[in-house]
Amino acid sequence: MKTFNVGIIGYGGFGKFLHNAWRQMDNVRVVAIADLNADKLQNLESISVFANWRDLIRQENIDLVAIVTEPSTHETMAKACMEAGKNVLIEKPLALLPDDARRIMEARDKTRMVAATDFIMRFNPLLQYLQQLTQAGIFGQLRRVAVENYAQDEQLPLEHWFWDTARSGGILVEHAVHFIDLVHFLQPNKVLAVNGLKHNRNERQEDQIMANVLYEGGLIATHYHAFSRPGFFEKTKIKLAYDLADLELNGWIPLQGELTALVNQETKASLLQNPFFKLTRAVPIEEAADESRPKGWGLTSTANRDPSLLSSGGILYKANEMVSGLFDLGRSKQEVYMDCVQASLQDVLDKISNPAHQLVAPLEAGLKALEVATLATFSARNAVP
Ligand SMILES: NC(=O)c1ccc[n+]([C@@H]2O[C@H](COP(=O)([O-])OP(=O)(O)OC[C@H]3O[C@@H](n4cnc5c(N)ncnc54)[C@H](O)[C@@H]3O)[C@@H](O)[C@H]2O)c1
Repeated sequence: MKTFNVGIIGYGGFGKFLHNAWRQMDNVRVVAIADLNADKLQNLESISVFANWRDLIRQENIDLVAIVTEPSTHETMAKACMEAGKNVLIEKPLALLPDDARRIMEARDKTRMVAATDFIMRFNPLLQYLQQLTQAGIFGQLRRVAVENYAQDEQLPLEHWFWDTARSGGILVEHAVHFIDLVHFLQPNKVLAVNGLKHNRNERQEDQIMANVLYEGGLIATHYHAFSRPGFFEKTKIKLAYDLADLELNGWIPLQGELTALVNQETKASLLQNPFFKLTRAVPIEEAADESRPKGWGLTSTANRDPSLLSSGGILYKANEMVSGLFDLGRSKQEVYMDCVQASLQDVLDKISNPAHQLVAPLEAGLKALEVATLATFSARNAVP
């Protein structure tokens, strides 16, 4: 097994987490780190440490560089890395603006280096199963995704780069791209329209923002993000409404999800194959409560219809049972997060070893999420009367 030498540019909160996770991989050696605060870094014996990232990318023994600095630096660093003959794993957001991301892609095509976006959600086994179920149409069409995310800002002082939109791009670019990309990961439909709304606490702090996205086929996704509440309320809920199912995922690294679905024999079998799914209730459709019309209501157009025929979004489906259950990875957030960042790096290493390998999170995914995030941000900023 080949061992890959990795360099990390940016050794702040997330750079350290990546180092911790990657040092546990048998085929990876983190050999170099660059950070503006290089003189303050400790416990990095046997690792070359640089204050100037350009010195790191000159090291001949490095196969891949992870770029883990603030978004406004990604384009310059990514292009320079590839021009220096290094493969790159670029933190989300891929860049500050779509045109910056396109220039990164041009550099990739010119240098033929391997380059990926670090969209770690794509490596979460629960979301991977959900992608399979969605694309196989087990729950019918996906019509709605609603992300509701409350984050604390107690660790984000006013002077933090996060609040400087020229450095971070704002909340949708810096943070929501994870969830925007999740929608793209679940279903590949074209984006038809985007708009946004935001609130500024003061001139510098744009602390609540929302994006609405319409996709071909009728899916409407909403992303609401607030960085304003105490840590006690920190919470992420992702609601997915399919023609035949409601699913609610919890946590920004989703570990669990509650499902209610209308199924037939075939779709139930597919669902039960899922190792993370536990069925808690199943009732024949005749006994399942449909309370859309209370008892005593006059004759409705479905009164004499076969109860197993269901109409949703203008499509006729066949289902004979209503089931409820829980998706549960049965693992801690720490374990799943560690596994995801290891899998994300491994995916890039697989592509370096085998050019035919299809990257799970190519730069194209980084660009598509960034396009939506910037459109919504501009719309939100222009929506002020
Ligand atoms: N994929 C994920 O789950 C995930 C999670 C957290 C953060 N991130 C991303 O990681 C990136 C960094 O976020 P963070 O929270 O670690 O930020 P941070 O501020 O904690 O760390 C950034 C580090 O980069 C260093 N740095 C900045 N400019 C530099 C330069 N020119 N040369 C060398 N070092 C430089 C800083 O000194 C700092 O130590 C962001 O793009 C963020 O969105 C991704």
